[in-house]
Amino acid sequence: MSHMSTRKRYAVVGTGGRSKMYLKALATSHAAHGELVALCDLNSVRLDYANEELEKEFGYHPVPAYLPRDFETMISRERVDTVIVTSIDRTHHTYIIRAMNAGCDAITEKPMTIDADKCAAINEAICRTGRRLTVTFNYRYAPRNARVKEVLMSGVIGDIKSVHFEWLLDTSHGADYFRRWHRDKRNSGGLMVHKATHHFDLVNWWLDSSPKDVYAFGDLVFYGRENAEERGVTEFYDRSTGNPTAQRDPFALHMNVNEKLRRTYLEAESEDGYRRDQSVFSDGISIEDDMSVLVRYNSGATMSYHLTAYSPWEGFRIAFNGTRGRLEYNVTEVSYISTSASDIHGEYSLGSEKHDADVPAELILHRHWQAPEHIKLDESDESGHGGGDIRLLADVFVGSDDDPLGRAADHRSGTDSILTGIAANLSMAEGRKIDVNDLRTRVGG
Ligand SMILES: NC(=O)c1ccc[n+]([C@@H]2O[C@H](COP(=O)([O-])OP(=O)(O)OC[C@H]3O[C@@H](n4cnc5c(N)ncnc54)[C@H](O)[C@@H]3O)[C@@H](O)[C@H]2O)c1
Repeated sequence: MSHMSTRKRYAVVGTGGRSKMYLKALATSHAAHGELVALCDLNSVRLDYANEELEKEFGYHPVPAYLPRDFETMISRERVDTVIVTSIDRTHHTYIIRAMNAGCDAITEKPMTIDADKCAAINEAICRTGRRLTVTFNYRYAPRNARVKEVLMSGVIGDIKSVHFEWLLDTSHGADYFRRWHRDKRNSGGLMVHKATHHFDLVNWWLDSSPKDVYAFGDLVFYGRENAEERGVTEFYDRSTGNPTAQRDPFALHMNVNEKLRRTYLEAESEDGYRRDQSVFSDGISIEDDMSVLVRYNSGATMSYHLTAYSPWEGFRIAFNGTRGRLEYNVTEVSYISTSASDIHGEYSLGSEKHDADVPAELILHRHWQAPEHIKLDESDESGHGGGDIRLLADVFVGSDDDPLGRAADHRSGTDSILTGIAANLSMAEGRKIDVNDLRTRVGG
């Protein structure tokens, strides 16, 4: 990315929780680099609230708001240069492609999209229009994750032959995927795509390779009514807000006691039926909460990966085995989903994540025949995603001519990051090993 001389004109599509990071940045820290000129969402209540927040919280002015059918009108009338896509995963490809067809670049939240056909359509649009797509992989920008990349790139553990990676989502943040749209695989691709796109992207980046073969198992073993019944639960409910039964359920999300949740979701639901507070022990969940994946990379390295969404703590452990040694990296994350009245003004109250510096991350280098070395990590930045969000925004809006670690991600990294999860979903469905290079040929990119 290169430095921009004039301010680009941005529109944001999808004005839920995640969009606010971009709105705030364009209204405040990055106002000199880009201008927010329009918003788009299918829900007019959420659009109005986003404009109110722009004005009252971020000191900006309201911008014209458009419904999806007027997306092209928005682009031409507001002279949009770049569309930022923060709508639900299932819709990312639609807006990326419509933006490019109308002559814009696009920046999309992860995952780039959720299945092979939609991925092929995005790559076809990029080839045809020559427009640029940026996928915002904030984890790449966390200083400590960059440190891991530097250590691996230095060759100190030799050639990497295998990786062991376990990611834990806790019963607060992990549970949130089972309350709302993510719980339907058609919306999110399941956690193999929606969540693990971050993890598989990190591994692709750390190894500087791409997946070749994938085999996976996955199941719903904890959330869902049937699992709860098997554990002896007898009280069930459909949604939490205003429900006395839900008062006794620590998994419940009470939207009416938090202003942001109430205004963003509860007061908007009459328009589109989006219910943010469904019981995680209700029927209708089609995603997995426990997944195991074996991957072979084009570099020859293998990986065993596990994702658990009902863990008592959140974070990850990864170990790289190389021909000269081993690198171990352990991170505890504290996620935060506000459910109580005391958090009414909490910045993180819409489901963002926050890190707890009380449990420092560890990076341990084991060289053959030598004592282990604890590598110092920069933990000074406790902002979103290990300091990744802030650096990502600077790269997206300001740009950098100097990117020795190759952190800026385009459609190729976006494609590679979802191929492992898409292949894992196929493997689970068909019970066979998936040749990812075949899949890559199909989706292009
Ligand atoms: N990188 C990260 O750390 C991170 C964190 C949170 C969310 N995200 C991503 O951001 C995106 C949004 O997630 P969220 O948590 O803000 O969800 P959300 O439910 O809070 O907001 C989604 C918004 O999309 C809108 N929408 C739904 N269908 C639409 C359509 N057809 N056209 C236009 N708008 C539509 C909804 O009305 C809603 O306003 C997801 O893709 C998610 O993966 C990324």
